[in-house]
Amino acid sequence: MKLKPLLASLCISVPLMMTSMSTVAVEKITLKLAHNLDQEHVVHKALDQMAKEIQEESGGKMRVRIYPNGQMGGPRETIEMMQNGALDMTKGSASEMEPFASAFSVFSLPYLFKDDAHFKRVLYGPVGQELMKQTDSKGFVAIAAYVAGTRSFYAKKPINSPADMKGMKIRVVSTPTTNKIIELLGASPAPIPFGEVYTALQQGVIDGAENNEPSYFQTRHVEVAKFYTEDQHTSVPDYLVIASKVWNGMSDEQRAIITKAARNSEVYQQKLWDEEVTNSRNKAQELGATFITVDKTPFREALSPLYDDFRKDANVAEWMTKIEGEANK
Ligand code: GCU
Repeated sequence: MKLKPLLASLCISVPLMMTSMSTVAVEKITLKLAHNLDQEHVVHKALDQMAKEIQEESGGKMRVRIYPNGQMGGPRETIEMMQNGALDMTKGSASEMEPFASAFSVFSLPYLFKDDAHFKRVLYGPVGQELMKQTDSKGFVAIAAYVAGTRSFYAKKPINSPADMKGMKIRVVSTPTTNKIIELLGASPAPIPFGEVYTALQQGVIDGAENNEPSYFQTRHVEVAKFYTEDQHTSVPDYLVIASKVWNGMSDEQRAIITKAARNSEVYQQKLWDEEVTNSRNKAQELGATFITVDKTPFREALSPLYDDFRKDANVAEWMTKIEGEANK
């Protein structure tokens, strides 16, 4: 009678025990990569291409096995698993990196980027490179950055201005900055994991959330929150990270193969992104979504106290200045 649960637990624990940590010293390695996005998401497609390239370039000796869709948990869990050796790689948004390195909080600063070119100049230029080094002392190394467009609010009721958000409960990737954004707009922040937002919206636990168009559509949140307000308050990139122990245990040749494939995945993902935003908008509209064009000024004004907060913190103020310095290059 007890055999079934026992077998099931063996099936789970055996792959977990076979972490590549023990195999990094030898040439053949299998890296386990978990993330919380859909298999249709362009970040998944880019990771998939990277896995293929790594396998090809290493003559089949290096493999990356991807576990998508949050099957190993959200970024909080997967980063922790990576830190204690149960997982080799994962993906987290800048907000999810923030508890480990406060510099990443700059991406939560509303309307920081002048335009998409400014954002990409930061992400893939010297400032972005320096930012990526900030997790090195935390047990993992950032090896790729992926664009994620802009995040906007969506809800069960139309939001035309901050005044409409008064009293609403809005899901955020909870950080001190994201919580404050919601509070400054007169609403209350709800720290719900990505994979649980659909049910929370459906059951009325929350009134809305905020994300980019691909995540709004692919998670099917559109079914339970039909009004997407294009206020575009933040641009929060995603990062691919690898456990320092795994990274440091590899040969130079192995690291070079991964670095090159990670770079190529960034290029491929950027190529796919804009088309995916259009595609997601169209499909969301087919499912009944209304996209609302708004005047961003009242949002910008309501959120401006965040700039004063950031200026008071010497560490983040420095990153803010560096990013602002890239605006007109
Ligand atoms: C985006 C982002 C994810 C993040 C998610 C969230 O989809 O790409 O990395 O986890 O938002 O809001 O939780």
